[in-house]
Amino acid sequence: MGERARLIVLGRQGAGKGTQCIRLAEHLGVPHLSTGDLLRAEVAAATPLGTEVAGYIDDGHLVPDDLVLDLVATNLGSPRARAAGYLLDGFPRTLAQGQALFEVLGRDAAHLALELHVPAEVVRPRLAARRVCLGCGAVSSAPAGGADPATCSECGGDVSRRADDTDEAIDRRLALYEEQSAPLLIWLDSHGLLTSVDGVGEPEEVFARITTVVDTALASRSESPGLVESH
Ligand code: AP5
Ligand code: MG
Repeated sequence: MGERARLIVLGRQGAGKGTQCIRLAEHLGVPHLSTGDLLRAEVAAATPLGTEVAGYIDDGHLVPDDLVLDLVATNLGSPRARAAGYLLDGFPRTLAQGQALFEVLGRDAAHLALELHVPAEVVRPRLAARRVCLGCGAVSSAPAGGADPATCSECGGDVSRRADDTDEAIDRRLALYEEQSAPLLIWLDSHGLLTSVDGVGEPEEVFARITTVVDTALASRSESPGLVESH
């Protein structure tokens, strides 16, 4: 297709959005934009935004829509950024955010919304086992029932749990997904944008399912540009 892909990737916390978006961004040749990663970078840099949002993130609450929309506008506001295409990981995650995205960028704000479907009982142990490298940011999983890996297999840096991967914050985040993101999924589906992929299985297996669905959808869209008629 002539234009770069613009995709929304959704899914319950721990569904593997970040894991799969890294691969998919390379496959499609478009930037990976994770609002969670952007917000954590603001927190780490102790910017005014980071100071304001740290408590929300660590406790597993959603950051207020206006702050997230400003952050996305900063990153996607220019025609150049839009032309480069994008994979939106974790944004939008409320109906208000979804409507704002399409209001600002128009009906082609996303060619496809991909939901990685993983049941809550599968994501919980994934989140508990997640380790993030403090040096390079690589995400890995502590072996089930085994000792924690002391260092990152990519760069040798120290690894740690994410501040919001506590039992309490995980409960809150999963509940918010049902409350806040379910209406967004229904809305995206009603506009013919939503495709669901089974996210259970080995990461390579899940990636193969994703590329089959995404490549087919993008190819059929380029043959039939009128696929998305309204929003
Ligand atoms: P964000 O960083 O987006 O976190 P999240 O939504 O909780 O999702 P996760 O990053 O936890 O899950 P993931 O699906 O990326 O899983 P991953 O690939 O890492 O947001 C964090 C916070 O920022 C929010 O709670 C909120 O406060 C704020 N925020 C962000 N966006 C916002 C927005 N739009 N509006 C308002 N607030 C916002 O995988 C998880 C683990 O599983 C890893 O260890 C991985 O190695 C492992 N894994 C991955 N795939 C598999 C597999 N197939 N099999 C086994 N293990 C696997
Ligand atoms: Mg993530």
